[in-house]
Amino acid sequence: MTHSPLSTIRPAAPADAPAIAAVYNQGIAERIATFETRLRSAEEIAGQIETLPLRHAMLVAEAEGRVVGWAGYGTYRPRECYQGVGEYSVYVGREARGRGVGRRLLEALIDAARQRGMWKLVSRIFPENEASLRVAEQVGFRRVGVYRRHGQLDGVWRDVVIVERLIAENIR
Ligand SMILES: CC(C)(COP(=O)(O)OP(=O)(O)OC[C@H]1O[C@@H](n2cnc3c(N)ncnc32)[C@H](O)[C@@H]1OP(=O)(O)O)[C@@H](O)C(=O)NCCC(=O)NCCS
Repeated sequence: MTHSPLSTIRPAAPADAPAIAAVYNQGIAERIATFETRLRSAEEIAGQIETLPLRHAMLVAEAEGRVVGWAGYGTYRPRECYQGVGEYSVYVGREARGRGVGRRLLEALIDAARQRGMWKLVSRIFPENEASLRVAEQVGFRRVGVYRRHGQLDGVWRDVVIVERLIAENIR
């Protein structure tokens, strides 16, 4: 657990699911973060937290007793050779953005991945999502390149920037 005057970062619990769903659904509705368009229920998120594999992690940022953001990583590809590669997401509620919460969540997520033996985190970020690209860069992600026309969002083809961060301690 890490503390700052603004927020506490800690592992997500099933009771956090309503707040996590609210923050995630806000990001889905904004259409800048993800290809996902289906809103999530608290029950669905609670189920994910309850069945999180040991190698994976989901964290929340709490400020003044309220969950204001979350970050997590899951399976990149099911193949055994990629078991140490996690694909991450980070979402901060609109009212809490721009105060370092996203950065601290990602830093804590990298630590969690390191402790669980993961050797790399990756993500795919829309080129227009400057906040997400910036925060990734700040915590050591490298821009690998751009997948062109990787999928459609609301019927429009979108590019994505691939980012990766190696976790050197787990690569020997
Ligand atoms: C991306 C996101 C998680 C960043 O979280 P945040 O708490 O707002 O970010 P931070 O306050 O930690 O800021 C980190 C850096 O990004 C910069 N930044 C934040 N918002 C920015 C914006 N809209 N444009 C450009 N830079 C921005 C900050 O200035 C800071 O850099 P600095 O230290 O050089 O000033 C948040 O904006 C968010 O939830 N967005 C919607 C969901 C999303 O896009 N998730 C990522 C999916 S891949």
